[in-house]
Amino acid sequence: MREQRFSELRLDRIGRNFGEQAALSELSLTIRGGEFIALLGPSGCGKSTALNCLAGLLPLSGGSIWLDDKQIDGLPPEARGFGMVFQNYALFPHMTVRENVAFGLRMRKTPKDEMATRVDEVMRLVRLEDQANKLPSQLSGGQQQRVAIARAIVYEPPLVLMDEPLSNLDAQLRLAMRTEIRHLHQSLKLTTIYVTHDQEEALSMADRLVVLRDGVVQQIGTPDEVYDHPANRYVAGFMGYRNMLTFDVESTAAGRAVLTAEGVRLSGRTFGAVNTSKAVAAIRPEDFVVDGPPPNRVEVSVEVAEYHGREMLVEARMPDGHAIYFRTEKRLAPGDKATVAVPPERVLVYPADEPAAPQEAVA
Ligand SMILES: Nc1ncnc2c1ncn2[C@@H]1O[C@H](COP(=O)(O)OP(=O)(O)O)[C@@H](O)[C@H]1O
Ligand SMILES: [Mg+2]
Repeated sequence: MREQRFSELRLDRIGRNFGEQAALSELSLTIRGGEFIALLGPSGCGKSTALNCLAGLLPLSGGSIWLDDKQIDGLPPEARGFGMVFQNYALFPHMTVRENVAFGLRMRKTPKDEMATRVDEVMRLVRLEDQANKLPSQLSGGQQQRVAIARAIVYEPPLVLMDEPLSNLDAQLRLAMRTEIRHLHQSLKLTTIYVTHDQEEALSMADRLVVLRDGVVQQIGTPDEVYDHPANRYVAGFMGYRNMLTFDVESTAAGRAVLTAEGVRLSGRTFGAVNTSKAVAAIRPEDFVVDGPPPNRVEVSVEVAEYHGREMLVEARMPDGHAIYFRTEKRLAPGDKATVAVPPERVLVYPADEPAAPQEAVA
């Protein structure tokens, strides 16, 4: 009883306003059947709004949604038939696990035998066979979330929408469920749109990421593309480029820039038009190399060294006063002097006046 599959889901400049505020602006994206897409961004950037517009729970303020050549943005949620998984599970409390999972099939008037077979299969997939007759309140958070997932996928919907499904779980369970969801996706090939504010989750699970800021798309790309070539400073800040260092621009040419400060001279690759006197160098802590080769060597003094097993996470001061963070296997201690180098291709240079990611404030 599989729902009709599609080869392309096309969002054409979809938007949603609340009063004066645009919660989502002109999102355009073509999703291939079977793809796993992550919508990534901090709280309030419009992820849930986008998902609810897709589900049909919120009408669009502009744009259109197409499943192949069929326009669906005017259809009510039940006519779209997408599977939804919410952060708070939203299970039916008075129904057993099995009844919760069977719900979508019952609504679709699936014959009894087929319903039983499908439910058994999905309960096995999410490892809930032994919990079938319990009520949701008798399950742990992780088990409840697995029921919610089973309920959303049991009728093999053309599209599965997941809104921060793991954010109420503890760290260890979150990691395990990540792998499970990815595994389910690989075995069932259900087209999935997964909302998260966690870049690691997005990078590890998705085929492509859509990074949002204030309702506006910042970058769409594969995990590799977004991680290695963040389109702007905001995306870089979100992708773990913890060092965001503002320097004077000495020169720029052919996609390269040389940045300076007292006792510091760094060359890097430019992203966007760097035509201001100041620019920001975005560098990941793991891209600094202690005693690495020139160019881009800087003398630093160690201020904090945190033990992280094989590596130390070090906070150190550059001659011009900037604090930097780097990882090293060397056993450094506060007060030590060290020379760190960073390959020019790992120094990403952005205009200084670009907006920052919220994470930058933490670093
Ligand atoms: N029902 C609503 N009424 C008014 N404003 C809303 C409503 N839902 C969301 N918003 C606003 O739209 C923006 C995006 O919200 P949301 O899509 O929930 O973000 P996210 O899921 O990324 O945290 C926020 O500024 C939020 O306050
Ligand atoms: Mg949300």
